[in-house]
Amino acid sequence: MKIKLKDKIFEYRFATPKDVNKIYRFDRRINSVQEDHQYYYSHSPKNILKKMSFGNKIYMVFYKSRLIAWATIYTSIDKKRISNFNLSLADSKKSGLLCAAAVSRKYRGYGIQKFLIKIRIDYLKKKHIKFVFVMVSPGNKYSLNNIKLFGFKFVKKIISEKPEIINHKRVMVPNIDYNYRLNL
Ligand SMILES: CC(C)(COP(=O)(O)OP(=O)(O)OC[C@H]1O[C@@H](n2cnc3c(N)ncnc32)[C@H](O)[C@@H]1OP(=O)(O)O)[C@@H](O)C(=O)NCCC(=O)NCCS
Repeated sequence: MKIKLKDKIFEYRFATPKDVNKIYRFDRRINSVQEDHQYYYSHSPKNILKKMSFGNKIYMVFYKSRLIAWATIYTSIDKKRISNFNLSLADSKKSGLLCAAAVSRKYRGYGIQKFLIKIRIDYLKKKHIKFVFVMVSPGNKYSLNNIKLFGFKFVKKIISEKPEIINHKRVMVPNIDYNYRLNL
């Protein structure tokens, strides 16, 4: 499928398992820039595959056949994590999660993230999902602005840990996310 944003025509489609390596390489490029990495997790090939299994979906966006953005949709919420979302078990079954979105530096500001938020919400509506969640770093002002534009409301601050490679060693560092919710 095609979408025109500003002066450019982008192509987009769902990922398949054959795309795992392409997405992995893209993910590494995004993570190689510290400014982006602070708001964004690294994803292993196994984790990328999980994001397109069990009913989950990945959208890929291309410019001239080159992967320039991706975004993920979870169509359910793990019951072990429902307290992060202030959800009852019953409502967790009607909930979806938007995660792992990134856009190549060269194509930022074209509205690709906004487009990816819209098509993921549309997808979840078709799946009769009632509540959509998204977790954002408090300093990620572009993402925060974009999700508020779609009507997401703040739910909860989540304090956790995430892995970082420091001096070639994997260490766990404190991490804060804000959880936002949209009722469909
Ligand atoms: C956050 C991110 C996904 C935004 O993607 P994007 O496609 O550029 O976002 P959009 O174009 O939809 O919206 C960004 C808005 O900020 C503005 N902007 C200004 N400077 C910008 C910059 N350096 N980068 C991105 N947006 C910028 C854009 O013009 C746009 O404004 P508008 O609403 O007035 O049009 C992208 O910056 C990114 O991949 N960052 C690193 C990874 C990350 O943070 N992922 C999100 C995790 S929740």
